[in-house]
Amino acid sequence: MNSTLAIIKPDAFKANYTGKIIDIILKNEFFIKAMKLVKLSEIEAKGFYQVHREKPFFNDLIKFMTSGPSIVMVLEKENAVEEWRALMGETDPKKAKEGTIRALYGHDIEKNAVHGSDSNENAHNEIAYFFPQIDLL
Ligand code: CMP
Repeated sequence: MNSTLAIIKPDAFKANYTGKIIDIILKNEFFIKAMKLVKLSEIEAKGFYQVHREKPFFNDLIKFMTSGPSIVMVLEKENAVEEWRALMGETDPKKAKEGTIRALYGHDIEKNAVHGSDSNENAHNEIAYFFPQIDLL
């Protein structure tokens, strides 16, 4: 069994899509190992997205991710990273396949409803970032 980190971002939370997104997660047979509501501080958001710190969209991304509450989850499934990425769809909702979460609930390339780890190594690091005591659960 593998794990990945998923975030329901401030745009989707504010639009009240949390229930619908969790329903899709459960219908696709992920197990929600951990879940919490967070309002990221600037320091937390910058730490989480530090790989993007040189990107032109970094400041806007931080502003957006700190703009309201998010739901952070650890999802378990075989090939969790790849399976969750497929279910989310492309980063840009306009390019995301029909039926994917970003196609359904994303607004644009920044306000794209959900996040998912992009590799097993990053999943491990991202889970530890938000759930340092995950091994105790
Ligand atoms: P996420 O999967 O959370 O990882 C990094 C985020 O940066 C991404 O989703 C988008 O929200 C945002 N992002 C990526 N590329 C761009 C872009 N070209 N312009 C604006 N935001 C972007």
